[in-house]
Amino acid sequence: MADTDAAKEAKKFYQDVPMETPGFFLKGAASLDWGMKNRLSRIFNPQTGRTVMLAIDHGYFQGPTTGLERIDLTVVPLMYDADAVMLTRGILRTSVPPTLNKPIVMRCSGGPSILKELSNEELAVDIEDAIRMNVSAITLQVFIGGEFETRSVHNMTRLVDMGLRYGIPTMAVTAVGKDMVRDARYFRLACRICAELGAQIIKTYYVPKDFDTVTASCPVPIVMAGGKKIPVPDALTMAHNAVSQGAAGVDMGRNIFQSETPKAMMQAVRAVVHENMEPADAFDLYKSLTKDTDSQDPK
Ligand code: R5P
Repeated sequence: MADTDAAKEAKKFYQDVPMETPGFFLKGAASLDWGMKNRLSRIFNPQTGRTVMLAIDHGYFQGPTTGLERIDLTVVPLMYDADAVMLTRGILRTSVPPTLNKPIVMRCSGGPSILKELSNEELAVDIEDAIRMNVSAITLQVFIGGEFETRSVHNMTRLVDMGLRYGIPTMAVTAVGKDMVRDARYFRLACRICAELGAQIIKTYYVPKDFDTVTASCPVPIVMAGGKKIPVPDALTMAHNAVSQGAAGVDMGRNIFQSETPKAMMQAVRAVVHENMEPADAFDLYKSLTKDTDSQDPK
């Protein structure tokens, strides 16, 4: 009979006992091959075990998103402050200088636009092109509970298989449909399915209640997606809570590139993620860096 996860009380997540990672710093990665570990070590800082990934792939289904209208002018300068950059191959080839020595996490799914059913995705990149672009990870959306759930899960398993062939980790992004409840129970389900079926990194959303059960029950690193733009102190608090509750960093987009001073926001998020800075201190840092920044407008 299916375990419907109805009684959380009956489950034991042992949130206070970190999973052992013999011989490697990242959860669940000890048995991976050298190339895979080397790529993961470019994305995640081996000293802190965490990453600040800049997500700028939104255009693959929603076009020129606010803040991403001109990647070349306003976003490329931000990339130098990130640990890794998540983007599409089109933006990488057209707008990012190949001298950027940052690990690339390449979006490999696509199909429907915001005008259609988003879960109806297909794989949209050949693994050979990802290798040609020297990426450090490949990524796609997984729509657990979505209309095309099985298709998106199979997209993921195919991508994982291709990545394993060449030592490239796959990051599964747990997508949330319009009418879906965003709670720990749902994200435990979605993250665990993605890890069980082979993803080496999971990107998911923060939930205020029981997020530590989401990270504890997922045997691979979780990075927190930022979600829609919220006030700076709230975004810094959310990032702080996520890493305190077991996330291995963040993969943030709108809360960085839509902020008043994205470079200052990037530094504040970095302080939270890599130095465990308290949100109030990180907000002070943001304000002081913002004061020093005349304008981020290139014109
Ligand atoms: C979906 O558009 C992408 O996977 C984004 O990379 C993801 O939503 C993270 O960006 P944000 O922090 O803006 O939610």
